[in-house]
Amino acid sequence: MAGRARLKPLGAPTRGTTNPNRLRRSDRWVTGTPWARRVVQAAADPLVVDLGYGATPVTTVELARRLRAVRADVRVLGLEIDQERVTSAAPVADPPWLEFRRGGFELAGARPALVRAFNVLRQYDEAEVAAAWTTMLDRLAPGGLLVEGTCDELGRRCSWVTLDAGGPRTFTLACRPSDLDQPSDLAERLPKALIHRNVPGERVHALFTALDHCWARAAPFANFGPRARWTEAVAMLAADWPVRDRRTRWRLGEVTLDWAAVTPS
Ligand SMILES: C[S@@+](CC[C@H](N)C(=O)[O-])C[C@H]1O[C@@H](n2cnc3c(N)ncnc32)[C@H](O)[C@@H]1O
Repeated sequence: MAGRARLKPLGAPTRGTTNPNRLRRSDRWVTGTPWARRVVQAAADPLVVDLGYGATPVTTVELARRLRAVRADVRVLGLEIDQERVTSAAPVADPPWLEFRRGGFELAGARPALVRAFNVLRQYDEAEVAAAWTTMLDRLAPGGLLVEGTCDELGRRCSWVTLDAGGPRTFTLACRPSDLDQPSDLAERLPKALIHRNVPGERVHALFTALDHCWARAAPFANFGPRARWTEAVAMLAADWPVRDRRTRWRLGEVTLDWAAVTPS
């Protein structure tokens, strides 16, 4: 404990905007994607960190509840760099299953199997992303995973990167298809590493161009609803792009690709 107290929280407090159920899509992805779920299920120490939970700890409480369904003895630690937010979360703590502490990218000395950092890096400079990623990855338990992403206030437009000790692995788009005019509407909610890269010549721009094209070709499926249209658009995309998941996920308004599909140039 004394060692923990000496660690200086790395980062800076930012706006604390959050909302109940805002992160349901990434929670559903973590608990429903076999290889991501296994990170929690197979962990020697099932500790999960929610970094930067915001003005209220509601999404941390929800994450803990959802993870408990896949690993009954999971412990969730909410970390915030803003001490007032740590203090105000205390009444909902349920140690050792759910705790809150002050901490930053150094993860307050914890060695979690999984870190979720949502809508945190968004308010930093693009140039700060690589160092923040490395700092968090260095603290993961062996075989651990970092899920770093961004979404809108209601969680209808989301995207995230997963990283392990070797660096970024996958990129996911997740949305409510009825909320979209076209898939490139999601570009406004790209993770910080990509949001400034949606310009011609960059892979993420080429991805959105291709997905918009598939969406247009899938227009006849709109008769069956926007989710059916999204599913068919992603099926078309998968013919040429390194899509990692299948129809069961696409039907939820998701698609996960290899990170190589969007690596900034
Ligand atoms: C916009 S809120 C996001 C809340 C929640 N994760 C969500 O997505 O709804 C961002 C929070 O991250 C916190 N934060 C920013 N940098 C941080 C860091 N390096 N470590 C821990 N928390 C940080 C801010 O203080 C703020 O409360």
